[in-house]
This record gives sequence, structure tokens and C-alpha cells, in this order.
Amino acid sequence: MNRLAGRVALVTGGLRGIGHAVVRRFLAEGAAVMVADLSTPEAAAGTLATMAGDVGYVELDVGDEDQWIAAVAAIAARFGRLDILIANAGVGGSGPVRTTSLRDWHAILRVNLDGVFLGTRCCADMLADAGRSLPGGAAIVNMSSIMGLVGLPQVAPYNASKGGVRLFTKSTALEFAAAGTPIRVNSVHPGFVETPLLMESSDADAIAFYTGATPMGRLARPEEIAAAVAFLASDDASYMTGSELVVDGGYTAR
Ligand SMILES: NC(=O)c1ccc[n+]([C@@H]2O[C@H](COP(=O)([O-])OP(=O)(O)OC[C@H]3O[C@@H](n4cnc5c(N)ncnc54)[C@H](O)[C@@H]3O)[C@@H](O)[C@H]2O)c1
Repeated sequence: MNRLAGRVALVTGGLRGIGHAVVRRFLAEGAAVMVADLSTPEAAAGTLATMAGDVGYVELDVGDEDQWIAAVAAIAARFGRLDILIANAGVGGSGPVRTTSLRDWHAILRVNLDGVFLGTRCCADMLADAGRSLPGGAAIVNMSSIMGLVGLPQVAPYNASKGGVRLFTKSTALEFAAAGTPIRVNSVHPGFVETPLLMESSDADAIAFYTGATPMGRLARPEEIAAAVAFLASDDASYMTGSELVVDGGYTAR
């Protein structure tokens, strides 16, 4: 613990689910954290009050470029630097591809893929500045999924978005490394995690399917994903860039 002392991290989608667990883990590791999510600061205040540590909040829709620019300015004003970006915010959606509207397709790609692209583009300058003084450089961790590695019927837009995150991660990692820009970029690929996103969209049969399809025979706890994110964000992962860390109870091992 305390691997992130002195670091400033931005966690998108940090008010619940995996992002919330990441915020708690980062605070426990000594980081200062700017939480970004869709809620107004007033609505987020109750959740933030439950967190011990140096934590700020910015209202941010990750698909909106102007809001990203404002969020980066808010981080500069509050913390003066940015060492870590966790591009976690994401949305789900399911249905047959033949009845998926272009509007539904765009709604998922806008958050899951545009949001990751905008995060990297808008935060890269601040991260590069901070990374120059860090042993392992600055870090971006993009939240992909097992659905960025293998297909599942009826989730074509989600599969496409998470596969896109996987290769966007590798491309930016190579670009930064080649340019000597001190930012490592890696992706995390959770299996089925017990979060509001999964539980709200799944009936008992679906949960039984996820559990049965996972060799370890259970869903992941959000804290188990947060532990992997903390590792990639820390200097313990100083030689890792462009990699994909799979945290899936064995789902993709077959
Ligand atoms: N739960 C799983 O089984 C699972 C598995 C693999 C990957 N993931 C990925 O992990 C990430 C987090 O998922 P979760 O299960 O914790 O979801 P969740 O719905 O429980 O939490 C997501 C958070 O992101 C926020 N958010 C949604 N749209 C946003 C936007 N446009 N801008 C800013 N914030 C936004 C929500 O308000 C919420 O607080 C997502 O990228 C998801 O695709 C989840």
C-alpha cells in the first residue's frame, strides 16, 4: 500500500461500480483523486463524503469534448498536476444487431470509445509533464473487458467498443513510447463483475450463465478489478505499456 503517494489521479465513472472501487483503492494507496461522473457536484457530495482522503469532484460526460477541456482545467486548478488517468466510464446495451439502431450504436461508442479517445487527447499534455519526474512515468489505464477480447451474441456495439479500446490502447502506447513521451498506456479486461451495470441489466438466468461460464464459478468483486488497475498505475508496472491485463476468473483461458 501507499504506492501512489504524491500522485494525482483522475477516475472517470468514479461514483459507483468498478470506478468507485478504484477511487477507494487509490486513496488507500496515498493518491489524491479527482472523481469524474455525470452527477452534479451537489448530487455527488453524499458519496464523496464517505471517502477518506484528498478527493475532488468534477461533473464530466466523457463523450463531450468541451467538458473534458473544463475538467482538465479543474484538475490543474485543484491539484496542479495529473499523474494517472483511469478511463473507466462505460455503458452497456444488448440486443440483436439487425434491430440495433444507428442511434443506439452511437450511444455506446460515444461513451465507451469516444470517451477513451478524448481522455487521452485532453490529458496527455498534463500527464507528460508529470511523467517526466516519475520513475515509471505517468499512466493511463483504459477499461476494456473480456468483451474486447472475445465475442458474445447480442452485444455487438459493446464488443466493438471494447475491442476498439484494446487497440486504441496499444496504438497510443506505441506512439508515446516512440516519441519518448513518459506515459505508459495499458488496458484492463474484467470478466463479469458484480456492479450496478451488470446487476441492473441481468436477470437470475443471466447471472447463472455468467457464473457458470466463469471457470472460478463466481462473479468478480469490484475491488478485485481495482487491485489490477492500481498495479498498472503504479511504478510496479514501470516496464508495462501497450499490454492487456485480463482479470476474468479464467473466462478467456479456454
Ligand atoms: N460490470 C462488469 O461486469 C464489467 C465487465 C467488464 C468491463 N466493465 C467496464 O467497466 C467500466 C465500469 O463499469 P461498471 O460495471 O462499474 O458500471 P456502473 O454502471 O456500475 O458504473 C459506471 C459509472 O460510469 C458513469 N458513467 C456512465 N456514462 C458516463 C459518461 N458518459 N461520462 C461519465 N461517467 C459516466 C456512471 O454514472 C457510473 O457511475 C465500464 O467501462 C464497463 O464497460 C464492466
